[in-house]
Amino acid sequence: MGASLCKTKKKKQVGSSWVGNENENPFDLGLNKRERVCLRETYMRLHDPKEIVGMIFADIVFDLEPDLKKVFGVERAPKATMSKMPKFGGHIARFTELLDQLTSMLGFTDNVAGAWQLVRKTGRSHVRQTFLEQNQNQLGKNYFQLVIDNFITEFIPYVTGDKEEPMPENDKKKVRFAQNYTTGYINDVWQRFFNILLSQMVDSFEMERTKQRNAQSQKALAPHQHVEQSERKKRKIQEKASEIENTAGSNEPREPEQMFEDPF
Ligand code: HEM
Repeated sequence: MGASLCKTKKKKQVGSSWVGNENENPFDLGLNKRERVCLRETYMRLHDPKEIVGMIFADIVFDLEPDLKKVFGVERAPKATMSKMPKFGGHIARFTELLDQLTSMLGFTDNVAGAWQLVRKTGRSHVRQTFLEQNQNQLGKNYFQLVIDNFITEFIPYVTGDKEEPMPENDKKKVRFAQNYTTGYINDVWQRFFNILLSQMVDSFEMERTKQRNAQSQKALAPHQHVEQSERKKRKIQEKASEIENTAGSNEPREPEQMFEDPF
Protein backbone atom coordinates (compact mmCIF):
# COMPACT_ATOMS: atom_id res chain seq x y z
CA MET A 1 0.00 0.00 0.00
CA GLY A 2 2.84 2.31 0.97
CA ALA A 3 4.56 1.70 -2.33
CA SER A 4 1.55 2.76 -4.37
CA LEU A 5 1.18 5.92 -2.30
CA CYS A 6 4.81 6.80 -2.85
CA LYS A 7 4.64 6.30 -6.60
CA THR A 8 5.88 9.41 -8.38
CA LYS A 9 3.75 10.58 -11.28
CA LYS A 10 5.73 10.16 -14.47
CA LYS A 11 5.64 12.57 -17.36
CA LYS A 12 4.61 10.97 -20.59
CA GLN A 13 5.19 11.86 -24.18
CA VAL A 14 2.32 12.66 -26.49
CA GLY A 15 3.72 12.67 -29.99
CA SER A 16 6.78 14.83 -29.87
CA SER A 17 5.49 17.15 -27.15
CA TRP A 18 6.10 16.47 -23.52
CA VAL A 19 2.94 16.91 -21.57
CA GLY A 20 2.23 16.23 -17.96
CA ASN A 21 0.07 13.52 -16.50
CA GLU A 22 -3.68 13.55 -16.73
CA ASN A 23 -3.96 15.77 -13.65
CA GLU A 24 -2.35 18.51 -15.71
CA ASN A 25 -4.79 18.30 -18.62
CA PRO A 26 -5.85 21.94 -19.14
CA PHE A 27 -9.31 20.89 -20.32
CA ASP A 28 -9.76 18.99 -17.07
CA LEU A 29 -8.36 21.82 -14.98
CA GLY A 30 -10.16 24.60 -16.81
CA LEU A 31 -13.64 23.15 -17.34
CA ASN A 32 -15.76 20.97 -15.08
CA LYS A 33 -18.05 18.23 -16.36
CA ARG A 34 -21.16 20.43 -16.54
CA GLU A 35 -19.25 23.12 -18.41
CA ARG A 36 -17.92 20.57 -20.91
CA VAL A 37 -21.44 19.26 -21.47
CA CYS A 38 -22.60 22.84 -22.01
CA LEU A 39 -19.96 23.23 -24.74
CA ARG A 40 -21.26 20.22 -26.62
CA GLU A 41 -24.94 20.99 -26.16
CA THR A 42 -24.63 24.56 -27.32
CA TYR A 43 -22.44 23.54 -30.27
CA MET A 44 -25.10 21.02 -31.28
CA ARG A 45 -27.69 23.79 -31.43
CA LEU A 46 -25.96 25.30 -34.40
CA HIS A 47 -27.66 24.61 -37.68
CA ASP A 48 -24.59 25.01 -39.91
CA PRO A 49 -21.39 25.65 -37.93
CA LYS A 50 -19.25 25.43 -41.09
CA GLU A 51 -21.10 28.42 -42.53
CA ILE A 52 -20.31 30.49 -39.41
CA VAL A 53 -16.65 29.39 -39.38
CA GLY A 54 -16.43 30.32 -43.06
CA MET A 55 -17.80 33.83 -42.50
CA ILE A 56 -15.40 34.48 -39.62
CA PHE A 57 -12.38 33.21 -41.55
CA ALA A 58 -13.34 35.27 -44.60
CA ASP A 59 -13.32 38.41 -42.41
CA ILE A 60 -9.93 37.47 -40.93
CA VAL A 61 -8.26 36.77 -44.25
CA PHE A 62 -9.94 39.45 -46.30
CA ASP A 63 -10.14 42.37 -43.88
CA LEU A 64 -7.84 41.79 -40.90
CA GLU A 65 -4.80 39.93 -42.21
CA PRO A 66 -4.54 40.02 -46.01
CA ASP A 67 -1.08 38.44 -45.71
CA LEU A 68 -2.94 35.19 -45.14
CA LYS A 69 -4.64 35.34 -48.55
CA LYS A 70 -1.61 33.78 -50.21
CA VAL A 71 -1.36 31.06 -47.54
CA PHE A 72 -4.93 30.00 -48.32
CA GLY A 73 -4.66 30.48 -52.08
CA VAL A 74 -7.31 33.21 -52.31
CA GLU A 75 -5.23 36.17 -53.58
CA ARG A 76 -7.50 36.68 -56.55
CA ALA A 77 -10.78 35.31 -55.23
CA PRO A 78 -13.53 37.78 -54.20
CA LYS A 79 -14.62 37.49 -50.57
CA ALA A 80 -18.01 36.03 -51.49
CA THR A 81 -16.55 33.03 -53.32
CA MET A 82 -13.52 32.44 -51.09
CA SER A 83 -14.98 29.39 -49.40
CA LYS A 84 -15.16 27.61 -52.77
CA MET A 85 -11.37 27.76 -53.07
CA PRO A 86 -9.83 24.37 -52.16
CA LYS A 87 -7.24 25.43 -49.59
CA PHE A 88 -9.38 28.06 -47.90
CA GLY A 89 -12.51 25.85 -48.04
CA GLY A 90 -10.43 22.91 -46.77
CA HIS A 91 -9.25 24.89 -43.77
CA ILE A 92 -12.80 25.91 -42.89
CA ALA A 93 -13.89 22.27 -43.09
CA ARG A 94 -10.92 21.04 -40.97
CA PHE A 95 -11.44 23.83 -38.41
CA THR A 96 -15.15 22.99 -38.08
CA GLU A 97 -14.37 19.26 -37.79
CA LEU A 98 -11.94 20.08 -35.00
CA LEU A 99 -14.60 22.00 -33.08
CA ASP A 100 -17.03 19.14 -33.60
CA GLN A 101 -14.54 16.50 -32.44
CA LEU A 102 -13.35 18.50 -29.45
CA THR A 103 -16.79 19.38 -28.14
CA SER A 104 -17.83 15.75 -28.60
CA MET A 105 -14.76 14.41 -26.78
CA LEU A 106 -15.14 16.92 -23.97
CA GLY A 107 -18.90 16.93 -23.49
CA PHE A 108 -20.19 13.64 -24.85
CA THR A 109 -17.66 10.75 -24.89
CA ASP A 110 -15.73 12.27 -21.97
CA ASN A 111 -12.42 11.63 -23.73
CA VAL A 112 -10.66 14.63 -22.20
CA ALA A 113 -7.20 13.10 -22.75
CA GLY A 114 -7.99 12.59 -26.44
CA ALA A 115 -9.12 16.21 -26.79
CA TRP A 116 -5.83 17.44 -25.32
CA GLN A 117 -3.78 15.23 -27.64
CA LEU A 118 -5.77 16.34 -30.67
CA VAL A 119 -5.18 20.02 -29.95
CA ARG A 120 -1.43 19.49 -29.41
CA LYS A 121 -1.21 17.49 -32.64
CA THR A 122 -2.98 20.29 -34.52
CA GLY A 123 -0.55 22.86 -33.09
CA ARG A 124 2.45 20.75 -34.12
CA SER A 125 1.12 20.11 -37.62
CA HIS A 126 1.05 23.86 -38.34
CA VAL A 127 4.87 23.99 -38.35
CA ARG A 128 4.52 22.42 -41.83
CA GLN A 129 2.99 25.72 -42.99
CA THR A 130 6.03 27.67 -44.14
CA PHE A 131 4.34 31.01 -43.53
CA LEU A 132 3.71 30.17 -39.89
CA GLU A 133 7.08 28.50 -39.43
CA GLN A 134 8.71 31.74 -40.49
CA ASN A 135 6.33 34.37 -39.13
CA GLN A 136 4.49 33.07 -36.07
CA ASN A 137 5.48 35.25 -33.11
CA GLN A 138 8.48 36.60 -34.99
CA LEU A 139 7.60 40.30 -35.01
CA GLY A 140 5.26 40.03 -32.07
CA LYS A 141 2.48 38.73 -34.31
CA ASN A 142 0.62 35.71 -33.01
CA TYR A 143 -1.54 34.41 -35.86
CA PHE A 144 -3.23 31.77 -33.71
CA GLN A 145 -4.24 34.48 -31.26
CA LEU A 146 -5.61 36.60 -34.06
CA VAL A 147 -7.83 33.73 -35.20
CA ILE A 148 -8.99 32.74 -31.71
CA ASP A 149 -9.67 36.33 -30.61
CA ASN A 150 -11.97 36.67 -33.57
CA PHE A 151 -13.73 33.45 -32.77
CA ILE A 152 -14.28 34.66 -29.22
CA THR A 153 -16.01 37.82 -30.43
CA GLU A 154 -17.71 36.44 -33.56
CA PHE A 155 -18.50 32.76 -32.92
CA ILE A 156 -19.68 32.86 -29.30
CA PRO A 157 -22.76 35.06 -30.00
CA TYR A 158 -24.11 32.24 -32.18
CA VAL A 159 -23.78 29.60 -29.43
CA THR A 160 -25.32 31.90 -26.83
CA GLY A 161 -28.21 32.63 -29.21
CA ASP A 162 -27.47 36.39 -29.22
CA LYS A 163 -26.95 36.22 -32.96
CA GLU A 164 -29.13 34.31 -35.37
CA GLU A 165 -27.55 32.06 -37.95
CA PRO A 166 -28.13 32.98 -41.55
CA MET A 167 -30.39 30.20 -42.82
CA PRO A 168 -33.51 29.62 -44.89
CA GLU A 169 -36.83 30.60 -43.21
CA ASN A 170 -38.11 26.98 -43.26
CA ASP A 171 -35.17 25.67 -41.26
CA LYS A 172 -35.53 28.32 -38.56
CA LYS A 173 -38.55 26.63 -37.01
CA LYS A 174 -36.61 23.41 -36.47
CA VAL A 175 -34.05 24.96 -34.17
CA ARG A 176 -35.86 26.31 -31.16
CA PHE A 177 -34.28 25.01 -27.96
CA ALA A 178 -35.05 25.35 -24.30
CA GLN A 179 -32.41 27.68 -22.85
CA ASN A 180 -30.99 25.67 -19.93
CA TYR A 181 -27.86 27.81 -19.50
CA THR A 182 -27.63 31.56 -19.05
CA THR A 183 -25.96 33.62 -21.77
CA GLY A 184 -23.23 34.64 -19.33
CA TYR A 185 -22.50 31.02 -18.46
CA ILE A 186 -22.23 29.91 -22.11
CA ASN A 187 -20.12 32.94 -22.90
CA ASP A 188 -17.71 32.21 -20.06
CA VAL A 189 -17.42 28.49 -20.85
CA TRP A 190 -16.70 29.10 -24.55
CA GLN A 191 -14.15 31.82 -23.78
CA ARG A 192 -12.27 29.45 -21.51
CA PHE A 193 -12.46 26.69 -24.10
CA PHE A 194 -11.06 28.93 -26.86
CA ASN A 195 -8.28 30.19 -24.59
CA ILE A 196 -7.17 26.64 -23.74
CA LEU A 197 -7.24 25.79 -27.46
CA LEU A 198 -5.07 28.84 -28.15
CA SER A 199 -2.49 28.29 -25.42
CA GLN A 200 -2.10 24.60 -26.24
CA MET A 201 -1.78 25.20 -29.97
CA VAL A 202 0.79 27.95 -29.51
CA ASP A 203 2.80 25.91 -27.01
CA SER A 204 2.88 22.71 -29.07
CA PHE A 205 3.65 24.73 -32.24
CA GLU A 206 6.62 26.45 -30.53
CA MET A 207 7.98 23.18 -29.16
CA GLU A 208 7.76 21.49 -32.54
CA ARG A 209 9.31 24.45 -34.37
CA THR A 210 12.25 24.52 -31.94
CA LYS A 211 12.70 20.77 -32.31
CA GLN A 212 12.70 20.97 -36.11
CA ARG A 213 15.05 23.96 -36.18
CA ASN A 214 17.49 22.15 -33.89
CA ALA A 215 17.35 19.09 -36.13
CA GLN A 216 18.00 21.32 -39.15
CA SER A 217 21.03 22.97 -37.60
CA GLN A 218 22.36 19.54 -36.62
CA LYS A 219 22.04 18.49 -40.26
CA ALA A 220 23.70 21.69 -41.41
CA LEU A 221 26.57 21.04 -39.01
CA ALA A 222 27.12 17.46 -40.08
CA PRO A 223 28.81 18.07 -43.48
CA HIS A 224 31.26 20.42 -41.79
CA GLN A 225 32.03 17.79 -39.20
CA HIS A 226 32.63 15.27 -41.99
CA VAL A 227 35.17 17.59 -43.67
CA GLU A 228 36.95 18.09 -40.38
CA GLN A 229 37.05 14.38 -39.75
CA SER A 230 38.48 13.48 -43.16
CA GLU A 231 41.06 16.28 -42.84
CA ARG A 232 42.11 14.85 -39.50
CA LYS A 233 42.35 11.36 -41.06
CA LYS A 234 44.46 12.66 -43.96
CA ARG A 235 46.78 14.44 -41.55
CA LYS A 236 47.20 11.25 -39.51
CA ILE A 237 48.05 9.19 -42.59
CA GLN A 238 50.59 11.79 -43.70
CA GLU A 239 52.12 11.87 -40.23
CA LYS A 240 52.37 8.07 -40.19
CA ALA A 241 53.95 8.01 -43.66
CA SER A 242 56.56 10.59 -42.79
CA GLU A 243 57.23 8.78 -39.50
CA ILE A 244 57.96 5.55 -41.43
CA GLU A 245 60.16 7.45 -43.88
CA ASN A 246 62.05 9.07 -41.06
CA THR A 247 62.60 5.85 -39.16
CA ALA A 248 63.64 4.14 -42.40
CA GLY A 249 66.06 7.02 -43.11
CA SER A 250 67.59 6.80 -39.66
CA ASN A 251 68.29 3.03 -40.06
CA GLU A 252 71.81 1.85 -40.75
CA PRO A 253 72.79 2.24 -44.40
CA ARG A 254 71.21 -0.51 -46.37
CA GLU A 255 73.49 -3.04 -48.10
CA PRO A 256 73.68 -2.47 -51.81
CA GLU A 257 71.24 -4.58 -53.69
CA GLN A 258 72.88 -7.84 -54.77
CA MET A 259 72.73 -8.80 -58.40
CA PHE A 260 72.76 -12.47 -59.25
CA GLU A 261 73.88 -13.95 -62.45
CA ASP A 262 71.09 -14.98 -64.77
CA PRO A 263 71.09 -18.83 -64.56
CA PHE A 264 69.82 -19.15 -68.16
C1 HEM B 1 -4.65 22.91 -41.46
C2 HEM B 1 -6.97 24.20 -37.40
C3 HEM B 1 -4.83 28.54 -37.54
C4 HEM B 1 -3.10 27.47 -41.89
C5 HEM B 1 -5.41 22.87 -40.32
C6 HEM B 1 -6.12 21.72 -39.84
C7 HEM B 1 -6.76 22.07 -38.71
C8 HEM B 1 -6.49 23.46 -38.47
C9 HEM B 1 -7.64 21.20 -37.81
C10 HEM B 1 -6.13 20.34 -40.53
C11 HEM B 1 -5.38 19.28 -39.77
C12 HEM B 1 -3.97 19.59 -39.43
O1 HEM B 1 -3.18 20.01 -40.31
O2 HEM B 1 -3.64 19.43 -38.25
C13 HEM B 1 -6.55 25.47 -37.07
C14 HEM B 1 -6.89 26.17 -35.86
C15 HEM B 1 -6.29 27.38 -35.90
C16 HEM B 1 -5.57 27.46 -37.15
C17 HEM B 1 -7.77 25.62 -34.74
C18 HEM B 1 -6.29 28.52 -34.92
C19 HEM B 1 -6.20 28.40 -33.66
C20 HEM B 1 -4.18 28.62 -38.74
C21 HEM B 1 -3.47 29.79 -39.20
C22 HEM B 1 -3.01 29.48 -40.44
C23 HEM B 1 -3.39 28.13 -40.74
C24 HEM B 1 -3.30 31.09 -38.42
C25 HEM B 1 -2.24 30.31 -41.42
C26 HEM B 1 -1.28 31.08 -41.26
C27 HEM B 1 -3.38 26.16 -42.15
C28 HEM B 1 -3.10 25.51 -43.42
C29 HEM B 1 -3.51 24.18 -43.28
C30 HEM B 1 -4.08 24.05 -41.95
C31 HEM B 1 -2.46 26.18 -44.65
C32 HEM B 1 -3.46 23.09 -44.35
C33 HEM B 1 -4.73 23.17 -45.13
C34 HEM B 1 -4.74 22.24 -46.31
O3 HEM B 1 -3.74 22.17 -47.03
O4 HEM B 1 -5.78 21.60 -46.49
N1 HEM B 1 -5.67 23.92 -39.46
N2 HEM B 1 -5.76 26.29 -37.83
N3 HEM B 1 -4.11 27.63 -39.68
N4 HEM B 1 -3.99 25.27 -41.30
FE1 HEM B 1 -4.88 25.78 -39.58
